[in-house]
Amino acid sequence: MKGIVLAGGSGTRLYPLTLATSKQLLAVHDKPMLYYPVSVLMLAGVRDILIISNPDVVPHIQDLLGDGSRLGLNISYAEQKEPRGIAEAFLIGADHIGHDRSALVLGDNLFHGAGFYNVLQRETRAVDGCTLFGYSVADPGRYGIAETDDTGRLLSICEKPRSPRSDQAITGLYLYDNDVVGIAAGLRPSERGELEITDVNQEYLRQGRAKLVPLSRGYTWMDCGTHDTLTAASQYVQVIQERQGVRVACLEEIALRMGYIDAEACYELGARMWQSDYGRYLTEIAHNFAAHTVA
Ligand code: TTP
Repeated sequence: MKGIVLAGGSGTRLYPLTLATSKQLLAVHDKPMLYYPVSVLMLAGVRDILIISNPDVVPHIQDLLGDGSRLGLNISYAEQKEPRGIAEAFLIGADHIGHDRSALVLGDNLFHGAGFYNVLQRETRAVDGCTLFGYSVADPGRYGIAETDDTGRLLSICEKPRSPRSDQAITGLYLYDNDVVGIAAGLRPSERGELEITDVNQEYLRQGRAKLVPLSRGYTWMDCGTHDTLTAASQYVQVIQERQGVRVACLEEIALRMGYIDAEACYELGARMWQSDYGRYLTEIAHNFAAHTVA
């Protein structure tokens, strides 16, 4: 499976924070926002990752993540000249996807929760058509909302409904079979001039090949698109990390635990940043991991 992180957009709801930088490079507590969606793909076992962003932002993301080799990944980059919609990711990423299946995650989405690794591993293996992830929200009128029957079968998707039929918002993580490239190529821009991901999902739904996986209460899903949600996400990560003593979306740690890099490499990555808690955390987990592995 190939991965895509869509990390462009205008970020207008975060002005003035995003007047001179990309939303996805802003901090969510101790790390750039982009780490969170990349961590999702890594946990899903996806190592070939295309990061799409605005032409002026791509070089900065390259400075941050490089070719991914230090994390045992293969990261490539592409430009989205204008924010012409989420589904454009599949036109820009068509060569990257080739004949494979794909996982798309939005650059401002944060997912966290015990067992998410297992859900991701299971669903990426099983994808046939499209797999969407639902999350129960208090304000369904602000989201794309999924309606399911009693057995969980997906019945309808409605964008920002006035009278929502459920509280299941469709999150910014999407798994597709290879048909997505052709479906995206056949889309027409919506009234707001964008290639809509909802239209891709509606087509799978029409074909009876769309599945919704509800993420239960134990999970957290946030998008960091407004000042309030950005602050809430930072506070969430800070509280979890302080209370549990483990880091959320620590890419080097995930690479170590997934077997993409060894303890020595992880230690080295930490040692380069020893001045920060983040760097020292890496050296500690690498040390413990090596000791545990030897024992
Ligand atoms: P949005 O939050 O819908 O849009 P935005 O990031 O441009 O922000 P704002 O509404 O404040 O102006 O985008 C969700 C995610 O998808 C975000 O990570 C940016 C990304 N995105 C693109 O990369 N390209 C696009 O064409 C669109 C629509 C979104």
